[in-house]
Parts: sequence; structure tokens; C-alpha cells
Amino acid sequence: MRITGRTFAQLVSAAAVALLAAAAGTAFAQAKAAPAKASFNAAACLACHAPVKAFYDSGKHKAVGCNACHDGTADHLADSKKRPATKTDLATCGGCHQNQYKSYATMDFHRTARYEKKQMTGPAPDPAYDLLMTPHGFTKEHNLPRGHTFALLDQYVVDRAFGGRFAPKETWRYLAGAGDFKVWDVVTDLYPNDSDQKVFKPGTAAAANPVCLSCKTQDHILDWAFMGDPVPGAKWSRTSKVVEAARSVNHALNCIFCHDPHAAKPRIVRDALIEAVTRTDFPTLYSQDARKTKVDVKDLGVRGYTRKIGMLERYDGKLQCGQCHVEYNCNPGFDPNTGAAIPMADKRTNYFPFVGPGDILKAYDHIQFRDFRNQFTGAALWKAQHPDVETYYGSKHEKAGVDCAQCHMPRVKDAKTGKFYTSHWQTNPKNYIKETCLQCHGQWDEKQARYVIESMYSHYQGKVRNAEFWLAQLIGKFGPAQLTGVPEDALKAARAKHGEAHANWEWWTAANGASFHNLDLAKESLARSVAASQEGIKILDDAIKAKQAPPPAAPAAPK
Ligand code: HEC
Ligand code: HEC
Ligand code: HEC
Ligand code: HEC
Ligand code: HEC
Ligand code: HEC
Ligand code: HEC
Repeated sequence: MRITGRTFAQLVSAAAVALLAAAAGTAFAQAKAAPAKASFNAAACLACHAPVKAFYDSGKHKAVGCNACHDGTADHLADSKKRPATKTDLATCGGCHQNQYKSYATMDFHRTARYEKKQMTGPAPDPAYDLLMTPHGFTKEHNLPRGHTFALLDQYVVDRAFGGRFAPKETWRYLAGAGDFKVWDVVTDLYPNDSDQKVFKPGTAAAANPVCLSCKTQDHILDWAFMGDPVPGAKWSRTSKVVEAARSVNHALNCIFCHDPHAAKPRIVRDALIEAVTRTDFPTLYSQDARKTKVDVKDLGVRGYTRKIGMLERYDGKLQCGQCHVEYNCNPGFDPNTGAAIPMADKRTNYFPFVGPGDILKAYDHIQFRDFRNQFTGAALWKAQHPDVETYYGSKHEKAGVDCAQCHMPRVKDAKTGKFYTSHWQTNPKNYIKETCLQCHGQWDEKQARYVIESMYSHYQGKVRNAEFWLAQLIGKFGPAQLTGVPEDALKAARAKHGEAHANWEWWTAANGASFHNLDLAKESLARSVAASQEGIKILDDAIKAKQAPPPAAPAAPK
């Protein structure tokens, strides 16, 4: 069976979701966009802005005045050097699209904030996690995700990103907050006179950089050249001071990530994804996908440098959610062949490989990049982000044409008007099984669907623990091997096995929902991890034995 678009059953009422959203008691920024003034003369503006005209005329916003999203238009008309302001907040869109806006910021009270993955109940528990990951910054704090409107806030306060500089104004009471908000209404900078990215508090790291921010907000969309290249005129780039960039943005996960504001049509804006779907040097899941959604890349920019957007022929979660729910490299690292440092000035610090777990190390070999070296073995390792889309590729649901939105953005009914809209509460589907799973799996009830999801998770967790055990054994062999003085080539071969075992384990501690998205792929890759660890152990065991064996007997003296 192949499903294209939404099935009729999915359009069935889902008032429960609307009720849940209403009951969540979330706070919202004032969503009061001025309704488009009928008198606004867009034609005067469009005379000078041909690229915008093409978008605007093609879509459903052509009745919406430019002044709905741009302030200071009168001054700009009088003097085009006086730039109008551009609103990038969610509430401006929400002024006319209340249902989408309100559902977007619904709170999931099942998922606690700062749920560290290395708790005993988490997907990457200690002691193994620290052994496998030290000295990487993620050992300072590594959490399960929560709702989209928290994306900036959670990054500002996490112990690994800004060294403890940013703190919630309301101390721990900030955890009770929800809804849509400006991050600077909630956090404060404890060191406003110091803009250097560094560690202020013990137990923290200062690992964030401007590329990280571009996956949390697009407030800076007009200030950022393609790929974050440091070009003249662009206010922010990969090499900017991240603390200053962080101070300048306010809104997480803007609507304009997925919707072009002028055409009101689907798009992508993350530059490294646009680069990944257009590049031809190394095959990607996208380039090999026979059913791929076409991406029409447009060069824009009225400030003297180019920014790009990718207009899509249809909504497609693999691309739109794939702006962030993917493996990407967004940090400095080193060349594994030469050991040379790769700083933020290098384009490789904004890179989407867009491949599956079997190809991930090949993709990074291709651009000659690794993130860090394990403290105990010296192996050059990859640090995974969250390869959710890549994991989903090739799954049974993906092959059947099911899109992310069908499980994470159900169609629901507005309780008052009876009209259907797309819930923008992208959360764990366990929050709306009836509106998602049961629309297609009509023979199940909610309990059964939940049982299936949770059983798959339990099975998966066991395999991840298994891979961790063998990695720990491999790491533990390096000490004795080095004490015994085994030759360097044996250590080198074992480190290569460590790199492979690590990649096939860490993918699965980093990916979200992977037990459900593609359990078969997870099992295959985790089994590969175990095998690589065991191969590494054997290399070191053999080398130790060879070293400890009594020297070969001297040839017998000739009689
Ligand atoms: C006479 C030609 C002209 C007209 C008419 C005009 N613009 Fe512009 N607009 C420009 C130029 C030139 C720039 C680039 C200014 C710069 O960067 O120095 C610009 C820049 C902009 C920008 C980008 C601002 C930024 O932050 O970079 C926006 C938004 C904009 N115009 C919107 C409008 C709107 C809305 C109208 C109608 C009210 C309008 N323009 C009418 C010439 C015009
Ligand atoms: C629904 C909100 C919305 C409306 C309506 C809107 N804009 Fe924009 N505009 C934006 C946003 C957001 C941006 C930032 C760039 C982006 O998102 O691609 C932008 C960017 C621009 C730019 C900069 C383009 C560039 O090349 O960098 C211009 C020029 C512009 N708008 C002109 C207009 C004009 C003219 C109109 C009316 C015909 C208009 N806008 C209506 C939201 C809007
Ligand atoms: C002043 C009111 C207004 C504002 C502000 C506004 N929109 Fe719209 N939008 C409309 C109207 C009117 C339509 C066309 C009505 C329809 O067909 O449902 C529309 C249509 C759309 C559609 C297309 C729906 C479809 O059926 O294809 C999308 C997507 C959209 N808007 C997103 C946005 C986003 C994102 C923003 C903020 C950047 C925004 N809108 C701001 C009024 C507005
Ligand atoms: C991560 C991508 C993404 C973001 C961010 C996003 N949307 Fe959407 N939006 C979608 C998808 C997917 C659809 C469903 C399109 C379909 O199936 O036809 C949609 C549909 C819509 C529609 C069309 C009407 C409907 O309900 O189907 C509107 C209007 C809209 N979104 C407004 C918004 C607003 C307002 C925001 C910000 C508060 C926003 N969107 C943020 C992905 C996104
Ligand atoms: C601009 C980047 C970005 C885009 C686009 C994006 N996400 Fe997310 N998503 C995030 C981040 C960051 C978090 C974690 C936020 C946090 O923990 O504060 C997250 C969290 C989530 C969660 C966990 C929410 C919860 O309640 O626990 C789900 C589910 C999710 N995203 C699904 C999606 C889907 C489906 C799409 C596409 C329709 C999508 N996301 C698009 C960045 C993004
Ligand atoms: C849009 C329709 C659709 C939705 C929504 C949907 N499924 Fe499915 N599901 C399918 C189809 C079609 C298949 C069969 C694919 C095949 O076997 O080729 C399938 C297969 C499965 C499988 C077997 C997968 C495997 O690898 O063997 C499970 C388990 C499952 N679905 C559970 C769920 C759960 C739980 C949800 C809700 C979170 C859900 N599905 C949502 C259509 C859907
Ligand atoms: C057939 C239904 C289905 C589809 C399609 C699907 N997901 Fe999921 N997703 C789930 C289920 C079910 C879970 C929760 C698994 C669990 O809790 O064990 C989940 C979990 C997640 C999570 C983690 C949420 C959390 O609570 O931590 C993210 C993020 C996510 N999915 C993103 C995506 C993206 C992006 C896509 C498209 C590439 C996608 N999903 C496609 C069913 C689906």
C-alpha cells in the first residue's frame, strides 16, 4: 500500500486535540497582527521588488498587505535607503492563523525539561556514556527534546552551550512556563559586559556557535549570507561571536522555516540542507530517492549578498523537518588524516551529510572531518546530532509514502467553526494516537497502538545497552595493550574499529523516536557496532598475546 496525501479517515474530527491544547493553559505572545489594510498599495512596493512580486502574485497571501509583516513602509517609500523592519515572530502569523499558532505551542507535560539522556532510565545512561564520550561537551548535559517553542531557551540554559552565562530570570520557576514567548523575556545574561564565549560555571562547557543558532531561529534570516559565509555587509556569519548573535534573537522555530511569507507556499531555508540537496560530489539519501520532492532554489538578497531559499513543490517532512532533525556538522573539528584543526571559518562546520548509518563515516571521510578524540583510546570519533530523517528513510512507513506530518501534525477540527486545520503541535504521537495511528490502523485501539510503540522501544533499548557493553570492553583493552607495549599499528587498527563501533552506537543514542521510525535499521547498525567492538578487542588481545609470548626459541645450533 502506498499513501499519497492524507487519507479520508485522517480528516475525521479530532476535537480531543483541540481540547488538549485549550486545557494546557499555555501563555501566548500577543497575536494581534493588523489585518491587512484593504487600502494598502502593494503595487507601489512591487514595482521595485520583482523577486518578491513573483512569490506574492503566485500565492494565497496576495490579499495580505506588505504592512502586515513590514513596519516603517511609509518612510521606506519616501526614501528607499530607510529600510522597513521585518517581523519574524510567530505571533504575527498567529494573528491571522490562530489555530496553527496556538497548537504549535502546546505543552507536553509528559516530557520533563532537562531530561538527561544519561540517567539510568535514559537512552544513553552512565557510566557508559561518559566513558564512551569524554571529553565531548555533550557529557556536560544531553537531554531528550521537548516542544518547539523551547528550542532557544533550552539551548541558552543547557550546561554545555554557553558556559553558564545565560540563566533564567525566574530561577527554577522558569520550568513552569510554556507557550510562545521571547527568549529574552525569560533569560538574562549574567555577564553583559563580556562577549567572549567561555566557561563561567564549573561543570559547564561553552560549545555553542552561530551555526547552532540557525537551526533554532531564523530571526537573523536577512542578516546571514548563504552558508553563513563571512561576507561584507552580512551582520552574522559562522565566525561571529556567538554570544552577540544569541543576544540579538528572540523567537524559536519561526513559521518562516517552512512557509514562504510572500508566496504562502512550502519552503526550506536552512542553507546546509539546500547545499546538501543540490550537491553532486557524494550520493545522499535525497539524490538517490526516486520519489524526491523537487526543490527550486532561489537566490535572494537586497543587501548586497546572496541568501537562498528552497521552494518545494509540495509539503515534505523529510525536507522541512529535515532542516534540523538530521545529522549535521555545526562545530569545529579536525582533519583525521593530518590532525589539522578545522575552525569555524571552514565551510565544513556547516554541513549536512544526509546519508544513512552505513555511509556516515564514508561521508565524513570524503570531507575529511572528525569531531573529537576519545580520551581513553585516542580514536578519532564522529559526534552525532539527531539523524531522525535519515533513520526514517527506508522504513516501512516511508516506503508506503507516509509523511512525518501524518504522525506528528494531525488534521484536527476547530471546535467552534467545525473547520479542519493542521495541528502544529509536533510532539510524541502518543499524545494523539487516535488522530494519527488509528486513522490508518483502524483495527487497533489506542491501548494497542501504545503497546506496539512501547514494545519496540524496549526491544531497541536492550540492543543499545548491548552495543555499549562491547564498546566499554574495547575501550578497557587499550590500557593493558598500551602497558604491554603493543605495536602502534595494532593500536591504530583497533582505533579504526572503535570509530566504526562508535558511529553505529552513537547514531542510536542521538536519534529521536528511532525505535519506532526504523527498528530494523537500528538492529542492523547496532549489531554492526557490536561486531566492530569485538573485532577491535581481538586485534588488541592478539597483539598483547604476541607481545607476552616467550621469544621464539633460538634456532638450534648446527650439530
Ligand atoms: C523605489 C524603489 C523601492 C520601492 C518603491 C520600495 N522599495 Fe523596498 N527596497 C528598495 C531598495 C533599494 C532596498 C534595499 C535597501 C538597502 O539595503 O539599502 C529595499 C529594501 C527593502 C526591504 C529589505 C529590508 C532589509 O532589512 O534588508 C524590504 C522588506 C522592503 N524593501 C520592502 C518594501 C515595501 C514593503 C515596500 C512598499 C511599501 C517597498 N519596499 C517599496 C527599493 C524600494
Ligand atoms: C506574511 C508576512 C509578510 C508579508 C505579507 C510580506 N513580507 Fe516581505 N518579508 C517577510 C519576511 C519574514 C521576510 C524575511 C525574508 C524571508 O523570510 O524570506 C521578508 C523579506 C522581504 C524582502 C527582502 C527580500 C530579500 O531579497 O532579502 C523584501 C524586499 C520584502 N520582504 C518585500 C515585501 C513586499 C514588497 C511585500 C508586499 C507585497 C511583502 N514583503 C509582504 C514577511 C512578509
Ligand atoms: C493579515 C493576515 C495574515 C497574516 C499576518 C499572515 N497570513 Fe497567511 N494567510 C492569510 C490569508 C487571508 C490566507 C489565504 C486564506 C486561505 O486560503 O486560507 C493565508 C494563507 C496562508 C497559507 C496557505 C494556506 C493554504 O491553504 O495553502 C499559509 C501556509 C500561510 N498563510 C502562512 C502564513 C505565515 C507563515 C505567516 C507569517 C509569516 C502568515 N501566513 C501571515 C492571512 C495572513
Ligand atoms: C516544520 C515546518 C512547519 C512550521 C515551522 C510551521 N508549519 Fe505550518 N504547515 C506545515 C505543514 C507540513 C502543513 C500541512 C500542509 C498540508 O498538509 O497541506 C502546514 C500547514 C499550514 C497552514 C495551512 C492550513 C492548515 O492548517 O493546513 C497554515 C496557515 C500554517 N501552516 C501556518 C503556520 C504558522 C502560523 C506557523 C507558525 C506558528 C507554522 N505554520 C509553522 C509545516 C510547518
Ligand atoms: C528549525 C529546526 C526544526 C525544525 C524545522 C523542526 N524541528 Fe522538531 N525540534 C527541533 C528542536 C531544536 C527540538 C527540541 C527543542 C527543545 O528541546 O527545546 C525539536 C523537538 C521536536 C519534537 C519533540 C517534541 C516534544 O514535545 O517532546 C518532535 C516530535 C519534533 N521536534 C518533530 C518535528 C517534526 C515532525 C518536524 C517537521 C514537521 C520538525 N520537528 C521540524 C528543531 C526543529
Ligand atoms: C498514513 C497512514 C499510517 C499512519 C498514520 C500510521 N501508519 Fe503504521 N503503517 C501504515 C502502513 C501502510 C504500513 C504497512 C507498510 C508495509 O508493511 O509495507 C504500516 C506499518 C506499521 C507497522 C509495521 C512496521 C514494520 O517495520 O514492520 C507498525 C508497527 C505500525 N505501522 C504502527 C503504527 C503506529 C503505532 C502509528 C502511529 C504512531 C502508525 N503506524 C501510523 C500506515 C500508517
Ligand atoms: C508512522 C508514524 C510516524 C512517522 C511517519 C514519523 N514518526 Fe516520529 N515518532 C513516531 C512515534 C510513535 C514516536 C515516539 C516513539 C516512542 O516514544 O518510543 C516518534 C518520535 C519522534 C521524535 C521524538 C519525540 C520524543 O518524544 O522524543 C521526533 C523528533 C520525531 N519522531 C520526528 C519525526 C520526523 C522528523 C519524521 C519524518 C522524517 C517522523 N518523526 C516520522 C511516529 C512517527
